[in-house]
Amino acid sequence: MDLSAIDNLHRRILESQSTPLLVVDHDERLCYLNPAAEDLFAVSARRVIQVPLGELIPGDRQLHAAIRRTREGNAPVVQRDITLPHAQGELVADLFLSPMDDGSGRVIVELARRDLVARADRDARLMEQQAVLDKLLRGLAHEIKNPLGGLRGAAQLLERELPEAALREYTGVIIREADRLQALVDQILGPRGGLRRRVLNIHEVVEHVHTLVRLDLPPGVSLERDYDPSLPELLGDRDLLIQALLNVVRNAVEAVDGKGRIVLRTRAVRHVAVGGRTLRLAVRLEVEDDGPGVPEAIRDEIFFPMVTGRAEGCGLGLSIAQSAVNRHGGLVQFESAPGRTVFAIILPLEQPEEVEGEHAP
Ligand SMILES: Nc1ncnc2c1ncn2[C@@H]1O[C@H](COP(=O)(O)OP(=O)(O)OP(=O)(O)O)[C@@H](O)[C@H]1O
Ligand SMILES: [Mg+2]
Repeated sequence: MDLSAIDNLHRRILESQSTPLLVVDHDERLCYLNPAAEDLFAVSARRVIQVPLGELIPGDRQLHAAIRRTREGNAPVVQRDITLPHAQGELVADLFLSPMDDGSGRVIVELARRDLVARADRDARLMEQQAVLDKLLRGLAHEIKNPLGGLRGAAQLLERELPEAALREYTGVIIREADRLQALVDQILGPRGGLRRRVLNIHEVVEHVHTLVRLDLPPGVSLERDYDPSLPELLGDRDLLIQALLNVVRNAVEAVDGKGRIVLRTRAVRHVAVGGRTLRLAVRLEVEDDGPGVPEAIRDEIFFPMVTGRAEGCGLGLSIAQSAVNRHGGLVQFESAPGRTVFAIILPLEQPEEVEGEHAP
């Protein structure tokens, strides 16, 4: 390998790293940011080169002190559990600082995000629990399905044999309730078979849901769209994704209770943690509403089946959405405060040729 090839390799290693990394010079001006650091601080490296670090991460003394110690001691420094200011609140990170060995006084700062690690752990646990619950619920639904058919049939026969019309009211109740249970069981069992993935534009899915929801949207609720039209196509099961998004949007409509604003937003995101792994590139499909927010009491279990905060809710919508998105290798997340709740569906963007196994029938 010649020198330029090695240089190239070094550069690519740095650029592919998912840990945010930056380099500051002896004046604490930025001289390098890798793409993961650009993502983290939502800046482009070109714009912040030569800018004082304090402008990127304002008012943080711990970081500056750690940089000084690294430079003065000319030895690596590890600083755990530092809280840094960040555009979206705060971030908690372990810092690994190393002096550059060229006598320039430059310091390399690596930031390992602990809040993301904690979140990834929680998400991975959630996905495992979700899979177990899903299996349990499907097993149960399956067991209910068969006797239910018999029950309904028997009630119909009985209805015909009844001597008095007044008694038919009772068989009517049995039949109606059996139908209601049947609809619920069908919803739990969902579409049969494996994923039917095909290449699709995520906006096909969002537009379809937009049309469905708009049909019976209360007049006081606005449903807005904010799309990133440059999103690449992805491989997905259109029906399942429509179902997942529909469940999330319906919740938003219910949450704003007749008056409010809902936004459907699409974005490309890089280096997102989903369960135990980091996705290089993903679609982030957000449903934002300005309702009262998710009730505190159910936040930790909101994706579990039968967890509901509404008197007339079944608590199935989000569980079904989560399981559909998980089957695509993605995740549904949410953040919620009164006045702003965002449910985000994250879907990996793989190159079609990298995915094997499932094809359209
Ligand atoms: N955008 C939101 N704002 C506030 N709370 C929400 C929002 N989305 C979901 N929730 C809460 O999460 C609960 C669970 O939602 P989920 O969709 O799983 O069930 P559900 O809407 O109650 O019933 P189902 O969807 O089965 O008819 C809801 O009952 C509601 O309390
Ligand atoms: Mg719901």
